[in-house]
Amino acid sequence: MRSFLFLMPFAMAVFMANIAPAVAQGQSAATVIEARKEAMKAKGGAMRVLTPLARGDSPWNQDAALAALATLRRVGDGTAALFPRGTGPESGVATAALPAVWDQWSNFEAATRGFTDAARVVEEAAKAGDLERFKGGFGALARSCGTCHETFRARR
Ligand code: HEC
Repeated sequence: MRSFLFLMPFAMAVFMANIAPAVAQGQSAATVIEARKEAMKAKGGAMRVLTPLARGDSPWNQDAALAALATLRRVGDGTAALFPRGTGPESGVATAALPAVWDQWSNFEAATRGFTDAARVVEEAAKAGDLERFKGGFGALARSCGTCHETFRARR
């Protein structure tokens, strides 16, 4: 987790440059790949909180929703920085990230933005306590995970 936080300042610069960053000096591909798997797991954990709320399987809990959405925002904003060049399968480190991430970098960034935009809509609805809007936005948020995985993550 510490290495993930360390990567955060790179996120904006990368976002502006429209090309994948290189692995920062002193970082190994293994460290970066580990950090991004942790980040993705954190997203999975947040979705496990949000899904029953959206389906109405658990009673509405604004604090829990906002905490999970804060995690998604934090992780989402740092996504591009977690995929520096040299951290694909060619690194020799176990990763499900496909070469398409780097071959189609602008599409990958678009998928990242699709996710962060969807998360923002859901977060605004949760802040407003608007459960209908929350449920509506949640579907798009959940789909945005799959949209990226379909193209950029290897099937197991
Ligand atoms: C912009 C693309 C993108 C988006 C959006 C995205 N993912 Fe991922 N995800 C990936 C890639 C690429 C990997 C493979 C990472 C690796 O193995 O290095 C991955 C891996 C994962 C993993 C496996 C982590 C591990 O332990 O190996 C989980 C769980 C996951 N994603 C959950 C989610 C969830 C839940 C969402 C939505 C809330 C999401 N992802 C959104 C691209 C994305």
